[in-house]
Amino acid sequence: MTQPEVSPNVQSDGSGVLAGQIALVTGASSGIGRAIAIGLAQAGADVVVNYVANEDEASEVVRVVEAIGRRGLAVRADVGQEAQVQEMFGRTDDVFGRLDILVNNAGLQRDASFTDMTLADWDTVLRVNLTGQFLCSREAMRRFKTQERRPQVSRAAGKIICVSSVHEKIAWAGHANYAASKGGVLMMMQSLAQEAAPFGIRVNSIAPGAIRTPINREAWETDEAYAELMKLVPYGRIGEPEDIAAAAVWLASDASDYVVATTLFVDGGMTNYPAFAHGG
Ligand code: BGC
Repeated sequence: MTQPEVSPNVQSDGSGVLAGQIALVTGASSGIGRAIAIGLAQAGADVVVNYVANEDEASEVVRVVEAIGRRGLAVRADVGQEAQVQEMFGRTDDVFGRLDILVNNAGLQRDASFTDMTLADWDTVLRVNLTGQFLCSREAMRRFKTQERRPQVSRAAGKIICVSSVHEKIAWAGHANYAASKGGVLMMMQSLAQEAAPFGIRVNSIAPGAIRTPINREAWETDEAYAELMKLVPYGRIGEPEDIAAAAVWLASDASDYVVATTLFVDGGMTNYPAFAHGG
């Protein structure tokens, strides 16, 4: 049997690895999603910038994508609402004609102690963080399975990247809804990956640790909070959104073509039991 050649889009300097590909990033108007959208554009992809509330921020991300020389499109949709998700993917079909990469990034927190947590707090987090990833992945899968394959552009028929969290693994008191949603993302990702791989579709997760974004401002804004946070991060610095974007570009590219059903932790060692550095 002849070995398939490495596709020409694997460049040693990493540039243009996503040339000719269409990506959709949910929750891309700020934070990690914004950095991923820009990172994918820098790697050569055209990008659908999904947002739910802040149109101005989303338009700004589209402007950055266009300044890089790629096409960008801001599309409003609540990822937890089936009809809105279907409309967003329909819009992507109309404008770009296909989809190669989905990044399930949209996510939120509604923190409360267990006994104070309302059903609304629970439902909102599960709906956006887990159901949202299901709805978007389902739409992407339907397209990846039926659209024309382009082996000269990417070896895979499609790539899905789920943005999970270290809390798919680390229990988090006061955040049971959030941790449960991310634990759900782990099993959804792995089950979907099993189903998708025979179709040449790769599904993986990135699990960010503490990244400097609005979602966890309280954890890094003051010197005291930052010092507390660093007790949990052996590498000694907070993560930046660009740390996650770099991982997303790699997982979307053929450089990771043999990587399937994996969670890539990008956390400065947060999941490496820092409390056990001494003692135990
Ligand atoms: C959460 C952040 C938190 C980080 C590390 C993330 O998934 O959204 O609020 O700082 O995990 O605990």
